[in-house]
Amino acid sequence: MIRVDYSKAYDNAAPLAGELSQAHTWLQEASGRGSDYVGWVNLPRDYDKEEFARIQAAAKKIQGDSKALVVIGIGGSYLGARGVIEFLCSPNYNLKKKSTPNIYFAGNGLSSDTLHEIVELLGDEDFSVNVISKSGTTTEPAVAFRFFKELLEKKYGKAEAAKRIYATTDKERGALKHLADSEGYETFVVPDDVGGRYSVLTAVGLLPIAVAGVDITSLMAGAGEMMETCRAADLEKNPAWQYAAVRSGLYRQGKKIEILGAYEPAFRFMCEWWKQLFGESEGKEHKALFPASVEFTADLHSMGQYIQQGERHLFETMVRFEKSEHEMKVPFDAADGDGLNFLAGKDMDYIATQAMDGTLLAHVEGGVPNVVVYAGRKNAFTLGELIYFFEYACGLSGYLLGVNPFDQPGVEAYKKNMFALLGKPGYEEMGAELRAKLGR
Ligand code: PA5
Repeated sequence: MIRVDYSKAYDNAAPLAGELSQAHTWLQEASGRGSDYVGWVNLPRDYDKEEFARIQAAAKKIQGDSKALVVIGIGGSYLGARGVIEFLCSPNYNLKKKSTPNIYFAGNGLSSDTLHEIVELLGDEDFSVNVISKSGTTTEPAVAFRFFKELLEKKYGKAEAAKRIYATTDKERGALKHLADSEGYETFVVPDDVGGRYSVLTAVGLLPIAVAGVDITSLMAGAGEMMETCRAADLEKNPAWQYAAVRSGLYRQGKKIEILGAYEPAFRFMCEWWKQLFGESEGKEHKALFPASVEFTADLHSMGQYIQQGERHLFETMVRFEKSEHEMKVPFDAADGDGLNFLAGKDMDYIATQAMDGTLLAHVEGGVPNVVVYAGRKNAFTLGELIYFFEYACGLSGYLLGVNPFDQPGVEAYKKNMFALLGKPGYEEMGAELRAKLGR
């Protein structure tokens, strides 16, 4: 169960209930702006069960025949899987002794050295590839895929390589879909009505997550439970309403930045996922909170200074989880050279809780409103709840802001310039103009 405590952030969310109710109806009835892309709203109930079974079967096959899986994708076709795997299996997942394959994320940038490093790390190991692109035409993953396709074909021959390539893309359109059909790759579908940043609970996220050994049934069950909770058109009962109200209210009061954080280093990539979710959904028409993130307590020793005393244009949302899996009690030291024997026998969770509460009070006193999102134990069910909670709150919040939360017209600008500068056919004139601007 997710609980939002905004008592240290915002006085009275009730005046926003009317706007929330309208936004809620737009989401539930698919009748607002961008309504072609609200397939994620009922996804935890309506997902394709046959495909879900194929995902599980493919994950099992990959676990059996591969020591590594290269997951190729960018933005919404990458961040969710990485966030879930790092949170539930550890940021050190690849270093751990385990029976599941290493997971390497590729195609999420254009760094030659990063690509080279993945090829080196693969070495002679047996591996498979999951190439993920809804449009099937995104440059970064498409270029990366060429490298790993070639590597697989050299290693196994074309026919065997094709059995090790899994393509997650549109059900009928795009270069990747056509390639997959002509080469005979197993394909999984990104539903038409689910945009990239809302797609972690489709095959986009689920295949890599299942390969890492996460219980995806439990992940979906958690999301399903939160989906039911979020049906309530009631500020008292709906945590997504509360969170959307508070962040919208704070924005209207002049806050410009929301910092999401947790006292769990493993949550770092979930913050990256969240940043894309809110940044790409809301950052339009020269509006919206800038989504930033921190990892506490580490960042209290770096960004903590700014948060405490820098410009007062930010607020914090901290995600707190219940008890850790492993109890770690501080050892007693007879010499007590560091003077910490007053902590001897105390559990690390207890110490972390005091740090959380102390930091919250300090930041609030320093003028930084603090929202706390209480989540359950660190497991797949809880994460499913949290994912759906943020997705639903994001849809509501985008509507409260008055933008279409489901398009991303701004991401095209850099692509056009890049294609023009790379000399893509059809972009010659634009390329000449840009080169002139760059003085080339
Ligand atoms: O959320 C989005 O729509 C984007 O971040 C996309 O996921 C990203 O640009 C990758 O697109 P595609 O999956 O089409 O390769």
